[in-house]
Amino acid sequence: MKTRFLGLLSFFLFVLFGCQQGQDKQEKDIVTSKIEINVNDTSTRFMKVLLINGSPHEKGCTYTALSEVAKALNADGIETEIIHVGNESLQGCRACKGCKENGECVHIDIVNVVIEKAKSADGFIFGSPVHYSGISGTMKLFLDRLFYAGSKELAYKPGAGVVSARRAGTTASLQQLNQYFTINNMPVVSSQYWNMVHGNKPEDVLKDKEGLQIMRTLGHNMTWLLKSIEAGKKAGISPPETEPRERTNFIEPTR
Ligand SMILES: Cc1cc2nc3c(=O)[nH]c(=O)nc-3n(C[C@H](O)[C@H](O)[C@H](O)COP(=O)(O)O)c2cc1C
Repeated sequence: MKTRFLGLLSFFLFVLFGCQQGQDKQEKDIVTSKIEINVNDTSTRFMKVLLINGSPHEKGCTYTALSEVAKALNADGIETEIIHVGNESLQGCRACKGCKENGECVHIDIVNVVIEKAKSADGFIFGSPVHYSGISGTMKLFLDRLFYAGSKELAYKPGAGVVSARRAGTTASLQQLNQYFTINNMPVVSSQYWNMVHGNKPEDVLKDKEGLQIMRTLGHNMTWLLKSIEAGKKAGISPPETEPRERTNFIEPTR
């Protein structure tokens, strides 16, 4: 009986000791591949998100959606600024490449103001009403020129689009906004559903409880990404080195 008991005991001790050793080894492996983040690094920097309102209405549905995102960001300690561009009389991109000289658009207007602000911003939310199943005409002019002239000020910074419609065309419009981020090395922030609200008036949007929740989630997800990028920077992780740009029109090299 006694020998059986001792036998069982030594078996359990063997299993226990063996598992512990395995665990220690595993932990060691994890530690060697772990990124060291200095938790005592108290140097804090206020992060800022620019929210662009591409609606002709300064305080309409798009603004209501953007404000909900901004509130969530502010609650997380992120600074925000909503910039209204949708009522501007903007000209379209002339394709003159004048911006390649100094990173400014040849048209002197709000596009250059936003390029300047983008230099110190950490993230971007672009909001637009749906006009004929696409983003507003003014927002299209604004974004074409912002990204053509100021792409480097936005690259490697997170971005998200937000759209507002009475009824339809939201997914196509959201897709249109996302195209600007994905051609420009920008991480796209998502939410629990596609970033859209519904209504014709701000009061309608305030009744769209799901839409508002999607906006809040988007704000918190943006914070999470911004803080992760900041923690990464402190740990020595920077955006990747870029290769010299290849540009071909499918067949011939182009200039
Ligand atoms: C020129 C124009 C085109 C519109 N096209 C659409 C459309 O295709 N689908 C839709 O659901 N709503 C459409 N609407 C309604 C707006 O998208 C909707 O009222 C939006 O929430 C307004 O946002 P805002 O108050 O920020 O301007 C259109 C409105 C205008 C003025």
